[in-house]
Amino acid sequence: MAIRLGDTAPDFTAETTDGTLNFHEWLGDGWGVLFSHPKDYTPVCTTELGRVAALKSEFEKRNCKVIGLSVDPLKDHEGWSEDIAETQGTALNFPLIADANREVSTLYDMIHPNADDTFTVRSVFVIGPDKKVKLTLTYPASTGRNFDELLRVIDSLQLTSEHQVATPVDWNKGQSVIIVPSISNEEASEKWPNGWEELKPYLRLVPDPTAGETTT
Ligand code: BEZ
Repeated sequence: MAIRLGDTAPDFTAETTDGTLNFHEWLGDGWGVLFSHPKDYTPVCTTELGRVAALKSEFEKRNCKVIGLSVDPLKDHEGWSEDIAETQGTALNFPLIADANREVSTLYDMIHPNADDTFTVRSVFVIGPDKKVKLTLTYPASTGRNFDELLRVIDSLQLTSEHQVATPVDWNKGQSVIIVPSISNEEASEKWPNGWEELKPYLRLVPDPTAGETTT
């Protein structure tokens, strides 16, 4: 069954390039990203894993762990990781699940038989500290993902989980945010005593409440 936003991320124990781990224990009390790849030794996946490895410190700044998955055995992951280091300039520095029996892929509905009945699609799950699924993305095998966009989304998820705001189109950290419609003007006045920019009664903008804070 498909995993929906707000569901508890299914727990599992799996073999990875960093040893056997229990997913919920490994997540701890921070944020996490679980993302799947169709197959080892494939070109798009090679570029994606190199990019995520290069962005590791950006995920760390956001208190977010990353874990990949591919439906190939551990020995293939180990050989492939050498190619990733050689061609992408950054070695694998996060765990990659060896899901040869497709247990985790099935649990997370990562195999879409009408697209391909063997390989996983490119799924992404962002999981919050409460272990609930905050975001899902599904890309086909032929299209590599944009992990800068994933960082941007994590910034929005983290901001909107702490403040009663939403982020507008193409928002980036530091830019104005929207007061959520469920907050009345009276409540908003208490929270934002300096006021807001009102383009429409339902479109009220305030500065990013975390502007000036560095992502630690
Ligand atoms: C790739 O990662 O390059 C890929 C994998 C499966 C199908 C097409 C491309």
